[in-house]
Amino acid sequence: MKIAILSNGPGNYSTKRLKQVALERGHEVDIIKYRDCYASIEKSQPMVWYDGQPLVGYDAIIPRIASSMTKYGSMIVRQFEMQGVYTITSSLAIVRSRDKLRSMQLLARAGVGIPKTVVSRGGVDSDDLIGHLGGAPIIIKLARGTHGNGVVLAESRKAAKSVLQAFHVMDSDGTNILLQEFVKESAGMDIRVFIVGGKVIASMKRQSLDDDFRSNLHQGGEGEKIKLTDEERKTALKAAKSMGLSLCGVDLMRSDRGPLVLEVNSSPGFGIEKVTGRDVATAIIDYIEINAKRSQKKDKIGA
Ligand SMILES: Nc1ncnc2c1ncn2[C@@H]1O[C@H](COP(=O)(O)OP(=O)(O)O)[C@@H](O)[C@H]1O
Ligand SMILES: [Mg+2]
Repeated sequence: MKIAILSNGPGNYSTKRLKQVALERGHEVDIIKYRDCYASIEKSQPMVWYDGQPLVGYDAIIPRIASSMTKYGSMIVRQFEMQGVYTITSSLAIVRSRDKLRSMQLLARAGVGIPKTVVSRGGVDSDDLIGHLGGAPIIIKLARGTHGNGVVLAESRKAAKSVLQAFHVMDSDGTNILLQEFVKESAGMDIRVFIVGGKVIASMKRQSLDDDFRSNLHQGGEGEKIKLTDEERKTALKAAKSMGLSLCGVDLMRSDRGPLVLEVNSSPGFGIEKVTGRDVATAIIDYIEINAKRSQKKDKIGA
């Protein structure tokens, strides 16, 4: 097969691992910096270009879209979809997963446990909103934040009110701020479940090293291999399915009322390989080998 990895970081561990495994399997692999690609949109001729050359002949793409480039990256993925190229992650699923509000709505509908969440444009009595969450402390987070950078713990009702006011000033369309119940039983700890094709490939616990309530590795957290309970495994798989992601990292917290999903990452990092010793790159290439062929077959029948 000819496989394209859409990645702006050819030196990234995940990109290198995918390339290595694909080459070992005898595939042809190109790493494409999608930020330098462009699309030409014309009747019956969807095309992606790089450096003056049309990108043609690919059997499959593996999008590794950075969250800072969601819109542009997903547009390029969509353009490959327009050509009928198989992608392990659809452009729609990427966009969905990058919006925590949209994700929470989809997860909740599918019956996946999530922290109690409230959204408002502002202008509503904040006591009312905070009341829905059982009072302070509460979490206030940006719908499009990453690496723990857009998440605030407001310890008191007073603090929550002023943080909310400040956030709402910056939230022109009213959909970028989530208020969440603070899951205190799990403060500073969460679980990353790496899923490929409806199977859990690896899972790790992330713990903040200081007294930060955020466990993101980018905030100095540390990972450790963990065994999931049955309920956690089922919850993570259901979350992946409801987001339409065959490759993803589901983040969940252990709470007194069972696992609660925080987010589903459509470009999960491969650092989990080092923590758990599991080979996620091979699981991904395996999955693509089976499913890209299947989709080609399907296309031929449908033609
Ligand atoms: N409702 C919550 N209760 C307790 N801790 C939380 C809650 N939401 C987030 N956190 C902590 O903050 C971290 C970052 O939150 P998350 O929603 O995953 O945003 P990001 O996309 O920035 O990683 C989580 O890994 C978790 O440790
Ligand atoms: Mg997170």
